[in-house]
Amino acid sequence: MLQELKPSVLTIIENNKGNKDQTLLAICELLEEKVPYYNWVGFYFKNGDKNELKLGPYVGEPTDHVIIPFGKGICGQVAVSNENFVVPDVQAQDNYIACSITVKAEIVIPIFVNGENIGQIDIDSNTPDPFSKEDEDFLEFVCAEVAKIL
Ligand code: SME
Repeated sequence: MLQELKPSVLTIIENNKGNKDQTLLAICELLEEKVPYYNWVGFYFKNGDKNELKLGPYVGEPTDHVIIPFGKGICGQVAVSNENFVVPDVQAQDNYIACSITVKAEIVIPIFVNGENIGQIDIDSNTPDPFSKEDEDFLEFVCAEVAKIL
């Protein structure tokens, strides 16, 4: 099912050439709309030279966590580890920043440009333990395509 979204991701990137934030927002909208267990979809990016992440385009409930220091929460850990982070149960995590009490699970996939971890896609789910290898593979594809326009 996720595989079927790949052409739509490519079309969005093709059609929005030159307007990065609009492209990123359109990708968030597509994912949130088409995948029932993707309930908050957003991008965080390294904030200039600072060791912190800044919220980019997103779809879902507004969050207070516009700035996240490296190392803090799931997102901040991915900024440091350069690895995918799949969290089946957010309540089992010590280093977690809660955005909404409805969130049960989270997945964060880093975005690399020229080998450097410059940001990430972050997805929250209100469904417990919803993510599989298929989500990781699909979101790695999304991040690799997004990296080309950053
Ligand atoms: N839960 C994240 C914070 C960002 S929100 O999910 C939008 C974390 O622990 O890093």
